[in-house]
Amino acid sequence: MNNKSKDLIKLSVPNKPEYVGVIRLTVTGIANRMGFDIEKMEDIKVAISEACTNAITHGICQEENNFSIEFLSDEEKLVISVSDNGKGCLSQNIKPPVLEDPREGGLGVFIIRSLMDEVEILSNNGKGTIIKMTKYVGDDI
Ligand SMILES: Nc1ncnc2c1ncn2[C@@H]1O[C@H](COP(=O)(O)OP(=O)(O)OP(=O)(O)O)[C@@H](O)[C@H]1O
Ligand SMILES: [Mg+2]
Repeated sequence: MNNKSKDLIKLSVPNKPEYVGVIRLTVTGIANRMGFDIEKMEDIKVAISEACTNAITHGICQEENNFSIEFLSDEEKLVISVSDNGKGCLSQNIKPPVLEDPREGGLGVFIIRSLMDEVEILSNNGKGTIIKMTKYVGDDI
């Protein structure tokens, strides 16, 4: 029988940009322990930074609020969920950027989608946002 055990780590993070660096260090430790190579580790670090920056800049309304991160791992993959209980947005407002006409901003979600293997965004006006992203340790998906 294939007995895959899953490990769950939960963090509650203050709504302050200076903690994005702490999250990068944390995920490096987790991904390193799981056996990700350097390139994939860099992908995960960039993706999680964009997701956290979005939670801080678009998500959270009150300064004293924290947002949450969950790391769920098994031997083949790492699933990271970044959730805030902020104002949320309409999913149709998250549009792919027009790369021929790059304006400032609007790249975060696009970058996350290109670096991670699976990405799910659940967002509703007034009900906060969850971005769930998966990276596989190996190349066989
Ligand atoms: N956590 C969130 N809460 C509410 N709205 C969000 C959240 N994350 C993303 N959005 C919405 O989706 C849009 C696209 O996000 P994205 O990260 O791609 O671009 P950006 O944050 O506007 O700019 P950039 O990331 O390039 O600095 C945002 O402008 C915002 O309207
Ligand atoms: Mg962004």
